[in-house]
Amino acid sequence: MALLEGEHLTKKFGGIVAVDDVSFSIDSGETVGLIGPNGAGKSTLFRLISGVQQPNEGRVVLDGEEITGQSPHEICQRGLVRTHQIVHPFENLTLLENAAVGAQFGSRGSKASEERAHEVLEFVGLEDMAYTTPDELSVGALKRLEIARALATDPEVLLFDEVAGGLDTDETEAIVDLIGDIADRGKTVFLIDHVMRALMSVSDRVLVLDNASLIATGTPEEIQNNQRVIEAYLGENAGDAAGAAGAAGD
Ligand SMILES: Nc1ncnc2c1ncn2[C@@H]1O[C@H](COP(=O)(O)OP(=O)(O)OP(=O)(O)O)[C@@H](O)[C@H]1O
Ligand SMILES: [Mg+2]
Repeated sequence: MALLEGEHLTKKFGGIVAVDDVSFSIDSGETVGLIGPNGAGKSTLFRLISGVQQPNEGRVVLDGEEITGQSPHEICQRGLVRTHQIVHPFENLTLLENAAVGAQFGSRGSKASEERAHEVLEFVGLEDMAYTTPDELSVGALKRLEIARALATDPEVLLFDEVAGGLDTDETEAIVDLIGDIADRGKTVFLIDHVMRALMSVSDRVLVLDNASLIATGTPEEIQNNQRVIEAYLGENAGDAAGAAGAAGD
């Protein structure tokens, strides 16, 4: 059953069309990858879904109800949360407090928040560092903290924007394993990444944006052999866009 749907979504910034008539449907429990060259409109599409920006045209439907025009907070309470391409933890709070903020942002009371914060830190492998502050974390651990904060809101749908961006191979593998664990718990995952191998390994299905339009959708294997997709990438980095990891802008 479709849990998250975009219908004819369009977003313009002045003369730039960042997202052009994009429609998609994601089933409950599915893990779907979103790829495309730099500037294709991936992060903008995630902002439209999560309520950070409003589309000029089109609708977003979550679990059968239209959420277009709702605030990120309302959408989060309905069970959809997004992680950011650039991580922004609260620097003066401990990891536990950072995760607890996520829990409060969701639908839990503050007492349950602390318990939930411990649970999610444990899940992402940061419980040992619960009482330290984010400045002591590696880039990979910061990304895991970002995931913990998202999980603390108790979402059904998680949008991950370049969660492996800027990570080395081992850190990327750890994040991919973590996303696999989240998917195994029945969550619905929609993720953007330039690290192709990682994204393909974890996705049931892949959507491809190029120049604001959806140009392909299919299994990872179908996408890897899709001529139009290969052409969209050739100008940039010939097939494997791993070199584009860590692109700026959020
Ligand atoms: N707030 C904004 N104002 C003006 N133009 C914007 C704004 N946000 C995005 N754009 C433009 O919209 C297009 C799509 O940008 P977006 O960040 O969605 O791409 P992306 O696929 O996420 O790229 P990357 O892989 O580099 O993260 C780009 O041309 C970008 O310059
Ligand atoms: Mg982006």
